[in-house]
Amino acid sequence: MKEFLIETFAHHRTLIVFLHIISAVIWVGGMIAIRFAAHQSLSMIADPKIRLERAAHTLKRLFALVTPFVLTLIITAVLMAVGLGFRAAAMDATGHVIDEYAMSVYNTVHIKEAIWLIMTLNLAAMMFRRRKAELALHEGNLEEAKEALGLIAKTMVPVNIALGVTAIFIGVVLRNAY
Ligand code: HEM
Repeated sequence: MKEFLIETFAHHRTLIVFLHIISAVIWVGGMIAIRFAAHQSLSMIADPKIRLERAAHTLKRLFALVTPFVLTLIITAVLMAVGLGFRAAAMDATGHVIDEYAMSVYNTVHIKEAIWLIMTLNLAAMMFRRRKAELALHEGNLEEAKEALGLIAKTMVPVNIALGVTAIFIGVVLRNAY
């Protein structure tokens, strides 16, 4: 399996890095566009029912758009993490550290993995809340829908934007680390 990942990365390096970067652009850029452009525009709709319905629909479209790129991001990340040999440079076969600097770079890769995991769990929680809001709207419960969508806009999307920008920065650090 490891050999397969190393060979795949070696043969398709440019494509894999491109897919990693374009996935980050669409996921993080998509959230920024929704939070700082669509959100402001939606908040100008006077009728609260229509406003909440449009917000739930806009988020549905965003989440459907980003999901394949979230998966592409982790697939390309694994290929890069193995293909670039971070572990092999840091440890020997028995797990002993052979290079302190390479070990710190390898740990930085783990930080990105943790960020991806938190972002993905946060995305799953947002999908769940959005669905809950949609069901509340069908039942005419505007208060519940407003509460569910409000947390997504005020906290959950901004948290993922901050994590995404951090992951992009760490990507640049990794690129310049070897
Ligand atoms: C499983 C988690 C991840 C791992 C193991 C990982 C690993 C890497 C590595 C090794 C590089 C350097 C590639 C090179 O040297 O050419 C990189 C670059 C990059 N990563 Fe990640 N990444 C992960 C998640 C993410 C996430 C969540 C984002 C953003 C949402 C992201 C955005 C980027 C970007 C934009 C670059 C390009 C930086 C540049 O070209 O200077 N990565 N990543």
